[in-house]
Amino acid sequence: MSEGWVNVADAERVAAEKLDAGSLGYFAGGAGDEVTLRDNVAAWRRWRLRPRVLADVGEVTTATELLGAPVSMPLLVAPVAYQRLVDPDGEVGMARAAAAAGTVMCLSTLATARPREVASAAPPARRWFQLYCFRDEAITRALMDEAIEAGFEAIVVTVDAPRGGNRERDLRTGFKIPAGLGVPAVAAALGVERPVTIEETFALMTPSLSWSDLGELAAECSLPVLVKGLVTPEDAELALAHGAAGVIVSNHGGRQLDCSLASGDALPDVVDAVAGRATVLVDGGIRRGTDVAIALALGADAVLIGRPALWGLAAAGEAGAGRVLELLRAELELVLALCGCTSPAELGRAHVQRAPATSVYSV
Ligand SMILES: Cc1cc2nc3c(=O)[nH]c(=O)nc-3n(C[C@H](O)[C@H](O)[C@H](O)COP(=O)(O)O)c2cc1C
Repeated sequence: MSEGWVNVADAERVAAEKLDAGSLGYFAGGAGDEVTLRDNVAAWRRWRLRPRVLADVGEVTTATELLGAPVSMPLLVAPVAYQRLVDPDGEVGMARAAAAAGTVMCLSTLATARPREVASAAPPARRWFQLYCFRDEAITRALMDEAIEAGFEAIVVTVDAPRGGNRERDLRTGFKIPAGLGVPAVAAALGVERPVTIEETFALMTPSLSWSDLGELAAECSLPVLVKGLVTPEDAELALAHGAAGVIVSNHGGRQLDCSLASGDALPDVVDAVAGRATVLVDGGIRRGTDVAIALALGADAVLIGRPALWGLAAAGEAGAGRVLELLRAELELVLALCGCTSPAELGRAHVQRAPATSVYSV
Protein backbone atom coordinates (compact mmCIF):
# COMPACT_ATOMS: atom_id res chain seq x y z
CA MET A 1 0.00 0.00 0.00
CA SER A 2 2.84 2.37 0.84
CA GLU A 3 4.19 1.91 -2.72
CA GLY A 4 1.43 4.28 -3.88
CA TRP A 5 2.61 7.16 -1.68
CA VAL A 6 4.35 9.90 -3.63
CA ASN A 7 5.50 11.98 -0.66
CA VAL A 8 5.66 12.22 3.14
CA ALA A 9 2.29 13.95 3.29
CA ASP A 10 0.68 10.81 1.85
CA ALA A 11 2.05 8.74 4.75
CA GLU A 12 0.85 11.36 7.22
CA ARG A 13 -2.67 11.30 5.76
CA VAL A 14 -2.95 7.51 6.03
CA ALA A 15 -1.53 7.52 9.56
CA ALA A 16 -3.98 10.22 10.64
CA GLU A 17 -6.88 8.11 9.35
CA LYS A 18 -5.65 5.03 11.20
CA LEU A 19 -4.76 6.44 14.62
CA ASP A 20 -7.32 7.23 17.30
CA ALA A 21 -7.62 10.88 18.33
CA GLY A 22 -5.55 10.43 21.50
CA SER A 23 -2.57 8.74 19.83
CA LEU A 24 -2.71 11.08 16.86
CA GLY A 25 -2.62 14.10 19.17
CA TYR A 26 0.32 12.62 21.08
CA PHE A 27 2.44 12.13 17.97
CA ALA A 28 1.33 15.14 15.92
CA GLY A 29 1.06 17.69 18.71
CA GLY A 30 3.38 20.31 20.09
CA ALA A 31 3.57 22.53 23.14
CA GLY A 32 1.30 25.48 23.90
CA ASP A 33 -0.07 27.24 20.82
CA GLU A 34 2.18 25.07 18.62
CA VAL A 35 3.94 28.14 17.20
CA THR A 36 7.28 26.32 17.05
CA LEU A 37 5.67 23.13 15.73
CA ARG A 38 4.39 25.05 12.69
CA ASP A 39 7.42 27.32 12.42
CA ASN A 40 9.77 24.32 12.16
CA VAL A 41 8.12 23.38 8.86
CA ALA A 42 7.78 27.00 7.68
CA ALA A 43 11.40 27.96 8.48
CA TRP A 44 12.91 25.71 5.80
CA ARG A 45 10.58 27.40 3.30
CA ARG A 46 11.98 30.82 4.20
CA TRP A 47 15.15 29.81 2.40
CA ARG A 48 15.59 29.42 -1.35
CA LEU A 49 18.06 27.27 -3.24
CA ARG A 50 20.59 28.76 -5.65
CA PRO A 51 21.12 25.93 -8.16
CA ARG A 52 24.18 25.79 -10.40
CA VAL A 53 23.91 24.40 -13.91
CA LEU A 54 26.05 22.49 -16.41
CA ALA A 55 27.91 20.77 -13.59
CA ASP A 56 27.85 17.21 -15.02
CA VAL A 57 25.46 15.44 -12.72
CA GLY A 58 25.52 12.16 -14.62
CA GLU A 59 26.49 10.34 -11.43
CA VAL A 60 24.87 11.49 -8.19
CA THR A 61 25.08 9.87 -4.78
CA THR A 62 23.36 10.69 -1.51
CA ALA A 63 25.93 8.64 0.42
CA THR A 64 28.10 10.39 2.96
CA GLU A 65 30.02 9.86 6.22
CA LEU A 66 28.91 10.56 9.75
CA LEU A 67 31.11 10.18 12.83
CA GLY A 68 33.68 8.52 10.61
CA ALA A 69 31.49 5.80 9.08
CA PRO A 70 29.35 5.62 5.94
CA VAL A 71 25.59 6.18 5.65
CA SER A 72 23.48 5.89 2.52
CA MET A 73 22.19 9.43 2.98
CA PRO A 74 22.51 12.37 5.38
CA LEU A 75 19.07 11.64 6.83
CA LEU A 76 18.63 9.68 10.06
CA VAL A 77 15.70 8.47 12.11
CA ALA A 78 15.19 10.64 15.21
CA PRO A 79 14.40 9.19 18.62
CA VAL A 80 10.64 9.00 19.04
CA ALA A 81 9.12 7.46 22.16
CA TYR A 82 6.53 4.68 22.37
CA GLN A 83 6.51 3.40 18.80
CA ARG A 84 4.52 0.26 19.76
CA LEU A 85 1.56 2.62 20.22
CA VAL A 86 1.29 2.74 16.43
CA ASP A 87 2.63 -0.63 15.29
CA PRO A 88 3.11 -4.02 16.96
CA ASP A 89 6.77 -4.17 15.91
CA GLY A 90 7.37 -0.58 17.06
CA GLU A 91 11.04 0.34 17.31
CA VAL A 92 12.10 -3.06 15.97
CA GLY A 93 10.18 -2.38 12.74
CA MET A 94 11.67 1.11 12.58
CA ALA A 95 15.18 -0.28 13.13
CA ARG A 96 14.68 -2.80 10.32
CA ALA A 97 13.48 -0.04 7.99
CA ALA A 98 16.46 2.17 8.83
CA ALA A 99 18.87 -0.74 8.39
CA ALA A 100 17.38 -1.57 4.99
CA ALA A 101 17.71 2.09 3.99
CA GLY A 102 21.35 2.09 5.08
CA THR A 103 20.96 4.84 7.62
CA VAL A 104 21.18 5.35 11.37
CA MET A 105 18.25 4.91 13.72
CA CYS A 106 18.42 6.67 17.06
CA LEU A 107 16.55 4.67 19.72
CA SER A 108 14.79 6.62 22.49
CA THR A 109 15.24 5.94 26.19
CA LEU A 110 11.43 5.89 26.16
CA ALA A 111 11.31 3.18 23.51
CA THR A 112 9.04 0.18 23.89
CA ALA A 113 11.96 -2.09 22.93
CA ARG A 114 15.25 -1.98 24.80
CA PRO A 115 18.59 -1.68 22.97
CA ARG A 116 19.34 -5.37 23.38
CA GLU A 117 16.01 -6.38 21.78
CA VAL A 118 16.48 -4.01 18.85
CA ALA A 119 20.03 -5.29 18.29
CA SER A 120 18.94 -8.92 18.25
CA ALA A 121 15.68 -8.51 16.29
CA ALA A 122 16.91 -6.17 13.54
CA PRO A 123 19.79 -6.78 11.13
CA PRO A 124 23.20 -5.37 12.01
CA ALA A 125 23.23 -1.64 11.30
CA ARG A 126 24.51 1.63 12.68
CA ARG A 127 22.42 2.70 15.68
CA TRP A 128 22.61 5.46 18.25
CA PHE A 129 20.99 5.58 21.68
CA GLN A 130 19.16 8.65 22.96
CA LEU A 131 19.73 9.10 26.67
CA TYR A 132 17.67 10.88 29.27
CA CYS A 133 19.56 11.39 32.52
CA PHE A 134 18.22 10.17 35.84
CA ARG A 135 18.50 11.44 39.42
CA ASP A 136 20.17 8.14 40.27
CA GLU A 137 23.33 8.05 38.15
CA ALA A 138 23.36 4.25 38.35
CA ILE A 139 20.23 4.18 36.15
CA THR A 140 21.79 6.52 33.59
CA ARG A 141 24.95 4.41 33.61
CA ALA A 142 22.99 1.13 33.22
CA LEU A 143 21.11 2.53 30.22
CA MET A 144 24.34 3.64 28.58
CA ASP A 145 26.05 0.34 29.30
CA GLU A 146 23.24 -1.65 27.69
CA ALA A 147 23.44 0.49 24.55
CA ILE A 148 27.22 0.11 24.42
CA GLU A 149 27.00 -3.69 24.88
CA ALA A 150 24.31 -3.89 22.19
CA GLY A 151 26.69 -2.29 19.71
CA PHE A 152 25.19 1.18 19.53
CA GLU A 153 27.70 3.70 18.18
CA ALA A 154 26.86 7.01 19.85
CA ILE A 155 25.02 8.41 22.85
CA VAL A 156 22.62 11.27 22.14
CA VAL A 157 21.93 13.18 25.35
CA THR A 158 18.66 15.09 25.09
CA VAL A 159 18.88 18.33 27.04
CA ASP A 160 15.71 20.24 26.17
CA ALA A 161 13.35 18.35 28.46
CA PRO A 162 14.14 19.06 32.12
CA ARG A 163 10.35 19.08 32.38
CA GLY A 164 7.69 17.79 30.00
CA GLY A 165 6.26 20.42 27.64
CA ASN A 166 2.69 21.67 27.90
CA ARG A 167 0.94 19.41 25.37
CA GLU A 168 -2.60 20.70 25.27
CA ARG A 169 -3.81 18.17 22.69
CA ASP A 170 -3.18 15.44 25.27
CA LEU A 171 -5.08 17.40 27.91
CA ARG A 172 -8.05 17.78 25.61
CA THR A 173 -8.19 14.14 24.49
CA GLY A 174 -7.29 12.86 27.95
CA PHE A 175 -4.57 10.79 26.30
CA LYS A 176 -2.46 8.64 28.59
CA ILE A 177 0.20 6.13 27.59
CA PRO A 178 -1.44 2.75 28.34
CA ALA A 179 -0.08 1.49 31.68
CA GLY A 180 0.78 -1.89 30.12
CA LEU A 181 3.14 -0.23 27.66
CA GLY A 182 6.24 0.10 29.78
CA VAL A 183 9.72 1.46 29.22
CA PRO A 184 11.74 -1.78 29.15
CA ALA A 185 15.19 -0.17 29.13
CA VAL A 186 14.36 1.66 32.35
CA ALA A 187 12.78 -1.47 33.87
CA ALA A 188 16.01 -3.35 33.11
CA ALA A 189 18.11 -0.54 34.57
CA LEU A 190 15.98 -0.67 37.73
CA GLY A 191 16.16 -4.48 37.79
CA VAL A 192 12.37 -4.95 37.84
CA GLU A 193 10.21 -7.34 35.79
CA ARG A 194 6.97 -5.30 35.73
CA PRO A 195 6.23 -2.56 33.18
CA VAL A 196 7.64 0.78 34.32
CA THR A 197 5.15 3.52 33.49
CA ILE A 198 5.84 6.89 31.89
CA GLU A 199 4.85 8.68 35.11
CA GLU A 200 7.31 6.61 37.12
CA THR A 201 10.03 7.18 34.52
CA PHE A 202 9.53 10.96 34.45
CA ALA A 203 9.68 11.08 38.26
CA LEU A 204 13.05 9.32 38.15
CA MET A 205 14.59 11.69 35.58
CA THR A 206 16.65 14.62 36.74
CA PRO A 207 15.69 18.24 36.05
CA SER A 208 19.03 19.32 37.53
CA LEU A 209 21.46 18.30 34.80
CA SER A 210 24.22 20.87 34.26
CA TRP A 211 27.10 21.37 31.85
CA SER A 212 29.53 19.89 34.35
CA ASP A 213 27.37 16.72 34.54
CA LEU A 214 27.43 16.58 30.76
CA GLY A 215 31.19 16.99 30.80
CA GLU A 216 31.61 14.09 33.24
CA LEU A 217 29.31 11.90 31.21
CA ALA A 218 31.18 12.64 27.98
CA ALA A 219 34.55 12.03 29.66
CA GLU A 220 33.45 8.67 31.06
CA CYS A 221 31.56 7.43 28.01
CA SER A 222 33.47 5.23 25.58
CA LEU A 223 31.25 6.38 22.69
CA PRO A 224 30.93 9.79 21.05
CA VAL A 225 28.37 11.93 22.87
CA LEU A 226 26.04 14.22 20.91
CA VAL A 227 24.01 16.92 22.65
CA LYS A 228 20.43 17.08 21.30
CA GLY A 229 18.07 19.95 21.86
CA LEU A 230 19.94 23.24 21.65
CA VAL A 231 19.20 26.19 19.37
CA THR A 232 21.85 28.78 20.32
CA PRO A 233 25.51 29.17 19.39
CA GLU A 234 26.24 29.85 23.08
CA ASP A 235 25.05 26.37 24.03
CA ALA A 236 26.83 24.81 21.04
CA GLU A 237 30.10 26.35 22.31
CA LEU A 238 29.45 24.96 25.78
CA ALA A 239 28.63 21.52 24.39
CA LEU A 240 31.98 21.39 22.61
CA ALA A 241 33.81 22.75 25.63
CA HIS A 242 32.32 19.90 27.68
CA GLY A 243 33.44 17.13 25.36
CA ALA A 244 30.55 16.67 22.93
CA ALA A 245 31.47 15.14 19.58
CA GLY A 246 28.54 16.95 18.05
CA VAL A 247 25.32 18.83 18.54
CA ILE A 248 21.79 18.33 17.29
CA VAL A 249 20.03 21.63 16.67
CA SER A 250 16.51 20.79 17.79
CA ASN A 251 13.54 22.06 19.74
CA HIS A 252 12.14 18.55 20.21
CA GLY A 253 9.80 18.95 17.25
CA GLY A 254 8.07 21.89 18.95
CA ARG A 255 6.99 19.69 21.87
CA GLN A 256 8.89 21.41 24.67
CA LEU A 257 9.30 25.22 24.70
CA ASP A 258 6.73 26.85 22.45
CA CYS A 259 7.98 29.99 20.67
CA SER A 260 11.52 28.60 20.72
CA LEU A 261 13.52 29.36 17.57
CA ALA A 262 12.66 27.17 14.59
CA SER A 263 15.46 24.77 13.69
CA GLY A 264 15.91 26.23 10.21
CA ASP A 265 16.42 29.69 11.72
CA ALA A 266 18.73 28.50 14.49
CA LEU A 267 21.02 26.34 12.36
CA PRO A 268 23.30 28.90 10.62
CA ASP A 269 24.54 30.55 13.84
CA VAL A 270 25.24 27.17 15.41
CA VAL A 271 27.16 26.05 12.32
CA ASP A 272 29.23 29.24 12.47
CA ALA A 273 29.99 28.76 16.17
CA VAL A 274 31.00 25.13 15.72
CA ALA A 275 33.15 26.12 12.74
CA GLY A 276 33.89 22.57 11.60
CA ARG A 277 35.16 21.41 15.01
CA ALA A 278 32.34 18.88 15.53
CA THR A 279 29.38 17.24 13.85
CA VAL A 280 26.28 19.43 13.46
CA LEU A 281 22.93 17.75 12.95
CA VAL A 282 19.47 19.29 12.86
CA ASP A 283 15.88 18.14 13.16
CA GLY A 284 12.41 19.63 13.16
CA GLY A 285 10.04 20.14 10.26
CA ILE A 286 12.02 18.26 7.61
CA ARG A 287 9.39 17.00 5.19
CA ARG A 288 11.02 17.25 1.74
CA GLY A 289 14.29 16.58 -0.02
CA THR A 290 14.53 20.33 -0.54
CA ASP A 291 14.39 20.83 3.26
CA VAL A 292 17.28 18.37 3.63
CA ALA A 293 19.28 20.15 0.93
CA ILE A 294 18.73 23.55 2.54
CA ALA A 295 19.88 22.21 5.92
CA LEU A 296 23.01 20.74 4.32
CA ALA A 297 23.68 23.94 2.39
CA LEU A 298 23.45 25.87 5.67
CA GLY A 299 26.16 23.61 7.05
CA ALA A 300 24.46 20.65 8.74
CA ASP A 301 26.24 17.33 8.30
CA ALA A 302 22.89 15.52 8.29
CA VAL A 303 19.28 15.86 9.38
CA LEU A 304 16.95 13.67 11.41
CA ILE A 305 13.26 13.04 10.87
CA GLY A 306 10.87 12.30 13.72
CA ARG A 307 7.23 12.36 12.69
CA PRO A 308 7.67 11.49 8.98
CA ALA A 309 9.18 8.07 9.80
CA LEU A 310 6.60 7.58 12.53
CA TRP A 311 3.76 8.31 10.07
CA GLY A 312 5.22 5.68 7.76
CA LEU A 313 5.38 3.13 10.59
CA ALA A 314 1.86 3.95 11.78
CA ALA A 315 0.39 3.79 8.29
CA ALA A 316 2.10 0.66 6.95
CA GLY A 317 4.52 -0.74 9.52
CA GLU A 318 8.15 -1.41 8.68
CA ALA A 319 7.42 -1.15 4.93
CA GLY A 320 5.81 2.25 5.45
CA ALA A 321 8.75 3.61 7.43
CA GLY A 322 11.03 2.25 4.72
CA ARG A 323 8.96 3.91 2.01
CA VAL A 324 9.22 7.30 3.74
CA LEU A 325 13.00 6.94 3.98
CA GLU A 326 13.25 5.94 0.32
CA LEU A 327 10.98 8.79 -0.82
CA LEU A 328 13.14 11.34 0.99
CA ARG A 329 16.36 9.75 -0.28
CA ALA A 330 15.07 9.90 -3.85
CA GLU A 331 13.90 13.50 -3.41
CA LEU A 332 17.31 14.48 -2.05
CA GLU A 333 19.10 12.79 -4.94
CA LEU A 334 16.97 14.69 -7.44
CA VAL A 335 17.51 18.00 -5.62
CA LEU A 336 21.27 17.42 -5.57
CA ALA A 337 21.28 16.85 -9.32
CA LEU A 338 19.12 19.90 -9.98
CA CYS A 339 21.41 22.00 -7.78
CA GLY A 340 24.43 20.86 -9.79
CA CYS A 341 25.86 18.68 -7.01
CA THR A 342 27.02 15.08 -7.32
CA SER A 343 27.12 14.42 -3.56
CA PRO A 344 25.86 16.00 -0.32
CA ALA A 345 29.33 17.32 0.49
CA GLU A 346 29.17 19.66 -2.52
CA LEU A 347 26.28 21.67 -1.04
CA GLY A 348 27.42 24.86 0.64
CA ARG A 349 26.26 28.31 1.66
CA ALA A 350 26.47 29.49 -1.95
CA HIS A 351 23.54 27.19 -2.70
CA VAL A 352 21.12 28.97 -0.39
CA GLN A 353 19.81 32.42 0.40
CA ARG A 354 16.97 33.92 2.38
CA ALA A 355 13.73 33.95 0.40
CA PRO A 356 13.21 37.43 -1.00
CA ALA A 357 11.12 39.45 1.46
CA THR A 358 8.89 40.56 -1.39
CA SER A 359 7.78 36.99 -2.09
CA VAL A 360 4.03 36.87 -2.53
CA TYR A 361 4.02 33.31 -1.25
CA SER A 362 3.51 32.59 2.42
CA VAL A 363 5.41 29.31 2.31
C1 LIG B 1 5.82 11.66 19.61
C2 LIG B 1 7.24 12.11 19.74
C3 LIG B 1 8.04 11.56 20.72
C4 LIG B 1 9.37 11.98 20.86
N1 LIG B 1 10.16 11.37 21.77
C5 LIG B 1 11.44 11.78 21.92
C6 LIG B 1 12.30 11.13 22.84
O1 LIG B 1 11.91 10.17 23.51
N2 LIG B 1 13.56 11.60 22.96
C7 LIG B 1 14.03 12.66 22.20
O2 LIG B 1 15.18 13.04 22.35
N3 LIG B 1 13.24 13.26 21.30
C8 LIG B 1 11.97 12.83 21.13
N4 LIG B 1 11.19 13.44 20.19
C9 LIG B 1 11.75 14.52 19.35
C10 LIG B 1 12.37 13.94 18.08
O3 LIG B 1 13.55 13.24 18.36
C11 LIG B 1 12.71 15.06 17.08
O4 LIG B 1 13.50 16.02 17.73
C12 LIG B 1 11.50 15.71 16.46
O5 LIG B 1 10.46 14.79 16.26
C13 LIG B 1 11.90 16.36 15.13
O6 LIG B 1 10.83 17.02 14.57
P1 LIG B 1 9.91 16.40 13.40
O7 LIG B 1 8.96 15.46 14.10
O8 LIG B 1 9.25 17.59 12.84
O9 LIG B 1 10.81 15.69 12.41
C14 LIG B 1 9.87 13.00 20.02
C15 LIG B 1 9.06 13.54 19.03
C16 LIG B 1 7.76 13.11 18.87
C17 LIG B 1 6.93 13.69 17.76
